Amino acid sequence: MTRTTKPDDGGPTATPAASLRFDAVQKRYPGNARPTIESLSIEVPAGEICVLVGPSGCGKTTAMRMVNRLIEPTAGQILIDGRPNTERAPADLRREIGYVIQQTGLFPHRTIAQNVATVPKLLGWSTDRIAARTTELLELVGLDPEFADRYPAQLSGGQRQRVGVARALAVDPPLMLMDEPFGAIDPITRERLQNEFLRLQAQVRRTIVFVTHDIDEAIKMGDRIAVMRPGGRLAQYATPAELLLSPADEFVEQFVGADRALKRLALGRVRDLELEEPTRVRYGDPVAGVREALRRAEVPYPLVIDADGRPLAWLDDDDLHGERIADGIGSEVAVVDRDDILRDAFSDVLQHRVQYAAVTDHRGVVIGILSADAVARELAPPGPAPVQPAEAHHGTGA
Ligand SMILES: Nc1ncnc2c1ncn2[C@@H]1O[C@H](COP(=O)(O)OP(=O)(O)OP(=O)(O)O)[C@@H](O)[C@H]1O
Ligand SMILES: [Mg+2]
Repeated sequence: MTRTTKPDDGGPTATPAASLRFDAVQKRYPGNARPTIESLSIEVPAGEICVLVGPSGCGKTTAMRMVNRLIEPTAGQILIDGRPNTERAPADLRREIGYVIQQTGLFPHRTIAQNVATVPKLLGWSTDRIAARTTELLELVGLDPEFADRYPAQLSGGQRQRVGVARALAVDPPLMLMDEPFGAIDPITRERLQNEFLRLQAQVRRTIVFVTHDIDEAIKMGDRIAVMRPGGRLAQYATPAELLLSPADEFVEQFVGADRALKRLALGRVRDLELEEPTRVRYGDPVAGVREALRRAEVPYPLVIDADGRPLAWLDDDDLHGERIADGIGSEVAVVDRDDILRDAFSDVLQHRVQYAAVTDHRGVVIGILSADAVARELAPPGPAPVQPAEAHHGTGA
């Protein structure tokens, strides 16, 4: 592996993402009648997010902790980049593998900044580089810089969890283990963190094992999902789409839930749909011109934007009187990001009176309009799948 930098300079670390393989891994705790994990085989390609889901006690945390040798398997082996992890000292593995613990596990006597800097410090980074990275990470997880000098006990549970995520990300590790990293966070912050995390992952392409109880989170975050049953048995290992479209058995079907069709909305992004064009207007524009433009418009409401093209308000018929559009009038606009998943965007649209949302790019500039109708069309049952000529003879029994 090539590290292109000396340990304490500020240059980029070029450690590539690592592949991970569980090979017939078994874990039997002494005194337990049955093994916690009977025999688990999973392969996670480098740069992918593998989500482990399953009922409490099915062995998710156990599986994860065997990767960095906090727990040793009873049989089988775990390979990182094709190399058994038993060839590496546990301390080396833990320095190299980011780990977000289910209960955060921050060091209580160290400040937030010191917690985040744990591994960079072990690796001998310079003070400046550590300080810059810490600030960057706290911002990423949405914590004010003023938290840097506080102690974990002075934070809420959700804030502590975010520090845990920042700490695991500190050195951009080739492999990350995240055990319910967003478990204790409110739904709105959680959605934001998930989105930030996916955006970051699209850039850095780390290999991530991610544990959650929440099937919606699994569908949103996972490239692949491993659904586990009690006894660490693998019920299905598949992409989110496969899991939703063809659950392997009744257990998976129940776990995925009866609203599978709705859940498919988590597979699409706003940017995948054809957006509609708004009639963009500014406060002070002549009303007659706006009325004229509206006659040809796809969206029946004019959208007020500011000088930079950011959305301000919807107008309706009642707002269009007098000579010019009066300052500050109109109703609230639902704003969604082009990278949001359709499920989150749909729920934002439905919470507003006008059932259209302004779609913005990363600068907050309006690039189009998403309508509740467009999302609903996406939900319509798919037509018969085109039959591949080679498969035409076999029939699918459907
Ligand atoms: N040190 C231990 N000794 C004995 N049994 C253990 C030990 N640690 C875990 N177990 C048992 O192994 C099983 C799996 O535990 P694990 O923590 O891996 O579950 P989990 O899937 O992460 O559950 P949760 O979703 O509740 O976090 C449980 O039944 C647990 O009681
Ligand atoms: Mg657990």
